[in-house]
Amino acid sequence: MDLGLADRVFLLTGASRGLGFATAQALVADGARVVISSRDADRVDDAVAELGGPEHALGVTADLADPSTPRELVHVAQERFGRLDGALISVGGPAPGTAASMSDDQWTSAFETVFLGSVRAARTFASALPEGGAIAMVLSTSAKTPLTGLGLSNGFRPGLAMVAKDMADEFAPRGVRVLSVLPGRFMTDRNKELFAASDDPVEAAERAASAIPLRRIGEPSEFGRVAAFLLSPAASYVTGVAVAVDGGAMRAL
Ligand SMILES: NC(=O)c1ccc[n+]([C@@H]2O[C@H](COP(=O)([O-])OP(=O)(O)OC[C@H]3O[C@@H](n4cnc5c(N)ncnc54)[C@H](OP(=O)(O)O)[C@@H]3O)[C@@H](O)[C@H]2O)c1
Repeated sequence: MDLGLADRVFLLTGASRGLGFATAQALVADGARVVISSRDADRVDDAVAELGGPEHALGVTADLADPSTPRELVHVAQERFGRLDGALISVGGPAPGTAASMSDDQWTSAFETVFLGSVRAARTFASALPEGGAIAMVLSTSAKTPLTGLGLSNGFRPGLAMVAKDMADEFAPRGVRVLSVLPGRFMTDRNKELFAASDDPVEAAERAASAIPLRRIGEPSEFGRVAAFLLSPAASYVTGVAVAVDGGAMRAL
């Protein structure tokens, strides 16, 4: 199947590593061009090089919590690549801990980045996208069922999934799709850090894998291919949904 990605241009936030980077790889592998961003300049440069350099990828060092970031990304795509066709909004996951144990400062800081940063990016990208454009928010299965010990995620993801649904309704008449993707467990830096924080990281990873129906933690590329498909013209009638990519782990439909 031709996904129709050739020469299309996508913005990806939180994409120097992890699920964002894996999605950038899948998009570029099918002929798209990408503008990736995250906070660490060296990591952004390394990721751009790994994606094949400036013919295929451009990098912007920016924090999703900064109100000017979304406009800057749109500007770079339009100025340097001459078009914009879609966006993946990802960001580092919020700190672990139960909802009740998080301080007001932790809630406020996570809200500014994970929640408001994503909402602001989605509405800015949507206003810049032409008919046929698509936006995917990287959330978590916590949008539908709680994850033990990830209270900030449990608090914010359901609201973001509904924001994506709300925007899907608003922008559909213009032919712009908005959806969310719910990763289960993938062996990215984020998960390595979560496992490393446990007493026995190897045992923790094995236990996590055994609780997944497919009995393994996902490879980031398995997420990237699904996200790239959902952003592509091949998924032109898919909008307003939350798509789980989780090896069957989520205990909800
Ligand atoms: N991996 C999983 O199994 C899993 C499962 C469920 C949900 N998720 C969610 O999926 C998202 C991506 O996870 P991941 O595993 O890809 O994480 P990751 O491996 O930690 O990568 C996060 C990426 O986002 C960037 N980033 C972090 N904070 C940022 C900010 N404020 N502004 C801009 N960029 C930022 C990081 O680069 P810099 O640090 O240089 O900015 C990095 O490129 C997270 O929200 C996570 O909670 C992941």
